[in-house]
Amino acid sequence: MELEDNYGAHNYHPIPVVLERGEGVYVWDVNGKKYFDFLAAYSAVNQGHCHPRIIKALINQAQKLTLTSRAFYNSILGEYEKYITSYFGYDKVLPMNTGVEGGETALKLARRWAYDVKGVEKNKAKVVFAKGNFWGRTLAAISSSNDPSSFEGFGPFLSGFELIEYNNLNSLEEAIKDPNTAAFMVEPIQGEAGVIVPDNNYLKGVRALCTKYNVLFIADEVQTGLGRTGKMLACDHEGVKPDILILGKALSGGTIPVSAVLANNEVMLTIKPGEHGSTYGGNPLACAVAMEALKVLKDEKLSENSEALGIIFRDEMNRLKNESDLITDVRGKGLFNAIVIKELNGKTALDVCLKFAENGLLAKPTHGDIIRFAPPLVINREQLMECVNIIRQVILSFK
Ligand SMILES: Cc1ncc(COP(=O)(O)O)c(C=O)c1O
Repeated sequence: MELEDNYGAHNYHPIPVVLERGEGVYVWDVNGKKYFDFLAAYSAVNQGHCHPRIIKALINQAQKLTLTSRAFYNSILGEYEKYITSYFGYDKVLPMNTGVEGGETALKLARRWAYDVKGVEKNKAKVVFAKGNFWGRTLAAISSSNDPSSFEGFGPFLSGFELIEYNNLNSLEEAIKDPNTAAFMVEPIQGEAGVIVPDNNYLKGVRALCTKYNVLFIADEVQTGLGRTGKMLACDHEGVKPDILILGKALSGGTIPVSAVLANNEVMLTIKPGEHGSTYGGNPLACAVAMEALKVLKDEKLSENSEALGIIFRDEMNRLKNESDLITDVRGKGLFNAIVIKELNGKTALDVCLKFAENGLLAKPTHGDIIRFAPPLVINREQLMECVNIIRQVILSFK
């Protein structure tokens, strides 16, 4: 901790545990203390820590070929592209590395589509976002953010973005009526904002309005995708298909940064050779790992597990809410949940998380008063109940 403090930039404020090993739902600190990981690296470790199949795929490919750049073909990228596009039902994929690069790529595709296909006048394309969105830390991402801790002090910002209320279809319609609108980019459930679940049929409404006004619906499923909310994609809850789908995080099961942008030809083929890319995007190691990570999700029925255990977990949290003044709200879908903590006698959500850690469960507050619970999806019922017990004891200890 001291080394990080002395030699690392101070852009994070971690919970004071030093982890050195992980397996499934568990992590161990340098003193050998075992914890349930209830953050799962912001949903990057949906398949559990060091999943043996994913690690095997990683090692096998690492011993063969790791990086060629896209200056040459490699022997696995095509196979991966075929696999992931048929998995999600799109014509094409554009492989990138981090989630935020996925978002950047989606925006570039949307702008290009607006000019080449929709016929928007040069440099006039507008992209609409929902307030409370979080999609990373690049200048484009913070230019579309209304959270001062993200954007303050980093201007000037990119133009061509408009913010509307989340979960409000009237505002969406007002904004996208503008014929210069290229896209609406939205998280199906807002993660960093505190697991904000929109009304039923919101996504259906988004889909219908985007179709009506010839605007691309971009779903940022970097955090909600890949089983987290109890379906393979959070959009699947409402049976809607976005025009552009962004995936990241658990696409590599927590091993290396792998993201992907999926779209059909009308959108994807607007970008031509030399107009976008990344040295590591589509590297052989990423392809091998992502294919195995996707196979594990299906083979181990992790979406189904997430859906079933999510219901039990929220029931338990609601029961606890009735017993404690500390919890003011419980919300979520699948194993993507949050509780809202009322400040009690000067104790905050951070104090609650520190007590969780003492008792063997790791979680992190967001926005001061919200605690997100997102364990690896390989958690079983017994383990979940053990965690419920820890949460219950800690919450009830704050009187
Ligand atoms: C919804 C969403 N999109 C994009 C990102 C950015 O991903 P990355 O940190 O890999 O750039 C995040 C990160 O938390 C996210 O939650």
